[in-house]
This record gives sequence, C-alpha cells and structure tokens, in this order.
Amino acid sequence: MDILVTKRLTLRPPLEVDVDDIALGIANPRVAKMLGSVPQPYAQNDARIWLDKVRKERCVYTIHLHRLIGCVGVHEHPGHLELGYWLAEPDWGRGYATEAARAALTRAFCVFDADEIVSGAAVDNRASLRVQEKLGFEEIGQRPRRFLSRETDVNAVNTRLTRDRFQRLFGPLETERAA
Ligand SMILES: CC(C)(COP(=O)(O)OP(=O)(O)OC[C@H]1O[C@@H](n2cnc3c(N)ncnc32)[C@H](O)[C@@H]1OP(=O)(O)O)[C@@H](O)C(=O)NCCC(=O)NCCS
Repeated sequence: MDILVTKRLTLRPPLEVDVDDIALGIANPRVAKMLGSVPQPYAQNDARIWLDKVRKERCVYTIHLHRLIGCVGVHEHPGHLELGYWLAEPDWGRGYATEAARAALTRAFCVFDADEIVSGAAVDNRASLRVQEKLGFEEIGQRPRRFLSRETDVNAVNTRLTRDRFQRLFGPLETERAA
C-alpha cells in the first residue's frame, strides 16, 4: 500500500472502512458547497461510489491525524491530471490541506511523467485558492463551471502547477513513504 508520511499527517489510499468518515465530512454543506462534483445531500452511498471510482487511481489518499480528517488526490483524467482535496471543518486553518496536497503532488510528479498538474476553485473559495497559491499554482483563467452541490454554474478560477515551478519552490521530489 502506498502510504505517505508528512511532519504531522499520514496519507493512505481510501478503503471501505473510510466510508462513514468521508460521508460525514462531505455532508457538511460548507464542505460540499466548494466541491464541484458532489451531490447535496451527501450520504454513505455517495462515498462508496467515489471509492469505486478512485480505486484504480494511483495518487488518491485519505488524510489522517488521529482519525480521518479529509481526502486529497491527483486525479487521472484523459490528457490531464487534476489536484482535488477537502478537509473536515474542525481541522481547517492549521495548514493541513497544504501539507497533505504537497505530499500528494510530490508523489504524483514522481509517479506520472507529466509536466503539469491543474486545479482550481470557485471564485468565492479564497481558502482553497490560497492553498494552491502556497503550493505554486498559478491562475490560467476563469470560466463558469457546473457545481452539482449548488445546482448552478459558478465562476471558477483555473490554475496550473508546473513540475519545474514545484521543484523550484520545494526542491527535489522526495516523499517519505512508510510502505
Ligand atoms: C480549502 C480547505 C481544503 C483549506 O484547508 P486548510 O487546511 O484550512 O488550508 P491551509 O490551512 O493549508 O491553508 C489555508 C489558507 O487560506 C487562508 N484562508 C482561509 N480562509 C480565507 C479567506 N476567507 N480568505 C483568504 N484566505 C483565507 C488561510 O489563512 C491559509 O493561508 P495562510 O497559510 O497564508 O494563512 C478547506 O477549507 C476545505 O476543505 N474547504 C471545503 C472543501 C474545499 O474547498 N475543497 C477544495 C475545493 S477547490
């Protein structure tokens, strides 16, 4: 199993036992509102569907402190890789998203032969855009995007992180892996 270890967090691939924690975290409307592709309300079965979808992906992780506090993944789409993440609300504001995403990005740049990883966020998601800025992502444009959780189109910022820029900011690509 691909386990990543950071100073404060452990990241591992999602498992069936995570369904309840994932559903609980995303059921919070303040989390769901910022995620483009989750239904609202969000229940265990939605978490199961997500688990099935990401089962074969190589850089998708649950984030653990003493328990599961969120998820982060570099998702494989035809022709591009995309960073996504969420944290349970009680754990916001302590730098965990940036720390977890940095580990996942490092791993992804090792695993995939890609020059860039894209991401983005709703324009009103200042915290997420700040996370991406801290990781080296740069804005490449804005456009309306369907947000299932809001049942409407939302103006979204698209961002991009190049391998070169990530390495310039954070140094050589080394992940600490427990296994
Ligand atoms: C976005 C999210 C992952 C951030 O998690 P986090 O662990 O709190 O993020 P970090 O602590 O690593 O960094 C947050 C940064 O945003 C800043 N920030 C927080 N709220 C802000 C706001 N309203 N305006 C501007 N900056 C803000 C913080 O100060 C921090 O920056 P700093 O380190 O320079 O002080 C979390 O809020 C979340 O899960 N939100 C709901 C789901 C979501 O938005 N997912 C991403 C979809 S694109």
